[in-house]
Amino acid sequence: MSTTDTTVKSSPANEHGYKSFELGGFKFHRDEFFVHVTWPTGTHLMSVDTFLRALQRDCAWNFFYGTVNFDHVIGTINHYGNVDLFAGKFNDAYRTAELDHLENFPSEQILGTFREMLADWTNAGYDPFASPAETAAPWGVKNGDNTAAITRQRVAATRMVGVKGDEKIRSDESGYPVNRMFADVPQDEPEVHIEPGFESEIAAFNLFAYLSRSDVTWNPSVVSVVKESLYCPTTEEYILPVVHGNDRVEWFIQLSDFISWDVQDRDSGSPRAKVIMKAGDVAAMPADIRHQGYSPKRSMLLVWENNSADLPALIASGKAPTYPINF
Ligand code: PHB
Ligand code: FE
Repeated sequence: MSTTDTTVKSSPANEHGYKSFELGGFKFHRDEFFVHVTWPTGTHLMSVDTFLRALQRDCAWNFFYGTVNFDHVIGTINHYGNVDLFAGKFNDAYRTAELDHLENFPSEQILGTFREMLADWTNAGYDPFASPAETAAPWGVKNGDNTAAITRQRVAATRMVGVKGDEKIRSDESGYPVNRMFADVPQDEPEVHIEPGFESEIAAFNLFAYLSRSDVTWNPSVVSVVKESLYCPTTEEYILPVVHGNDRVEWFIQLSDFISWDVQDRDSGSPRAKVIMKAGDVAAMPADIRHQGYSPKRSMLLVWENNSADLPALIASGKAPTYPINF
């Protein structure tokens, strides 16, 4: 089913102070602790903290690569221009019981509704991008908002951080203090001696110092762009708020500390692997899995993405493999 109406369908505040929202046959409603999602063949309940952390990333990442599972039932599939919203689609039990449901929307329509829902359901002091240890709680009746936190733009360089014209977060003057967990990270910058005439071509920066100032968790920034190759490092603490279903291979390089990954079959959710990554470990996540990471202490992870728009179709048609290397 497809619809082209891009106005946000919402109803006035309920007894808890929150608006309710509709997207096609899906209805979303929040109370003090839970989000209630209904669709023509079923209903689902999620804790509001889990829901808002996932919703924040789905909005900020413009639906990301492939599938963003909010949990084992609800999620979105990015078709890059239009987006599927689903319930139970990647859950064998829901499919067998014929409780699953999927509708397709233009990206602007679902993004418009998701952004308004995120804004209305985020209370003052709650930051869905932050580690749970660094934010107030999301619970209770409606109490103000947190527009500055939820409209953060992710930092995206067009060439490389440090090259003239590109963004950088590299000093106390930037307004980004070193995070409590990275107090031991040296802040010195590399010395660069450039041959005259090449000043706009050469740059170097301390990536560890840069990441030590990140105020968000599980939100990859883009620090370098070489054709379709994107280096997207990120700082991680607690649990990746979405279960990401890949539509391409991604590489992970664990830059510091430790993350444990649960890797499952993308479509059924059956377990495939546990990947334990310590500082210096490198892993490739195949294109037919979903995964969720657990980081017991704030850690630094480099996610390496191939941004080519051709990949999902090449992999889905079998012309490109779901894994990067034949051993
Ligand atoms: C991923 O799904 O691969 C992913 C997403 C966000 C992160 C790290 C990894 O911060
Ligand atoms: Fe992923």
